[in-house]
Amino acid sequence: MSRDPSQGGVPASPGRSTAQVTGGTAGIGAAFAAQLAREGSDLVLVARTKARLTEKATELSQRYGIDVDTIAADLSTDEGLARVEARVADPGAPLDLLVNNAGFGLPEDFLDSDIAAEEGMLAVNVRAVLRLTHAALPEMIERGSGGIINVSSVAGSVPTATGATYAASKAWVTSFTESLSMLVAGKGVTLTALCPGFTRTEFHDRVGVSRGGVPELLWLDADDVVAAGLRDHRRGAVISIPGAQYKASVIGSRLVPRSVLRWMSARVTAGA
Ligand SMILES: NC(=O)c1ccc[n+]([C@@H]2O[C@H](COP(=O)([O-])OP(=O)(O)OC[C@H]3O[C@@H](n4cnc5c(N)ncnc54)[C@H](OP(=O)(O)O)[C@@H]3O)[C@@H](O)[C@H]2O)c1
Repeated sequence: MSRDPSQGGVPASPGRSTAQVTGGTAGIGAAFAAQLAREGSDLVLVARTKARLTEKATELSQRYGIDVDTIAADLSTDEGLARVEARVADPGAPLDLLVNNAGFGLPEDFLDSDIAAEEGMLAVNVRAVLRLTHAALPEMIERGSGGIINVSSVAGSVPTATGATYAASKAWVTSFTESLSMLVAGKGVTLTALCPGFTRTEFHDRVGVSRGGVPELLWLDADDVVAAGLRDHRRGAVISIPGAQYKASVIGSRLVPRSVLRWMSARVTAGA
């Protein structure tokens, strides 16, 4: 069944878990939705495009016999974020898992970009994650169970000239999640920052970046990213880095001087 719960609280079915995925209609978010649906979890999907939400909700509910609610909302706006926040904090329909996945980069670098676009990106990549996490935690802590996966990026651990604000936003997501995980330790709630590298989704098309220059070895599949993220989250990992190549590069990045890191980052992004 597909419905819009922002028009009124809808209780989760007894004995079934409910997960909310922002950006659940494409890429990594759609892979989260599919994997959680396959496991029998009811879903709340959030994205801007109503037609894609309806299509995804119908597909998953028919295929897996789960309930799928949809909220068509732009998380960069006060109004859209408030509706999603109200659903997250609704005590009559508690969430077992919140996946703060919606996020994007910009086509232009900082010197050429519109400042409103930069702020709009921060609103989705940072402010929505902050507000939805803040809305979800009190009820989860009171219940003594629940989880939040914040989709960050390996871009948050390396400097990059072509996406300065994007990289900084993801550094914030990782740091925020890691620090909060310490605050909620022992309260039954797990927080995980999922940090993928280059993943085949609509992300690069939206940004207008060619995939050709990035070595094949660096590309990940969204389903693999999500499988690793959920596995790590369920074993209580605070940071999840899918793919051996990225695990190695993040560990390596902590060992090399920042000047070397900047040089390597410039080489990869010049090819992208
Ligand atoms: N792909 C990569 O290489 C990569 C690597 C590392 C991290 N990530 C991160 O992974 C997350 C998902 O990215 P993706 O690659 O799966 O992107 P994607 O394929 O472009 O999908 C983005 C999803 O977010 C929704 N969305 C975008 N802007 C929104 C807004 N303002 N309000 C509500 N929903 C919005 C989109 O639907 P609508 O357009 O209908 O709103 C869509 O469902 C992002 O946080 C991204 O930074 C991606």
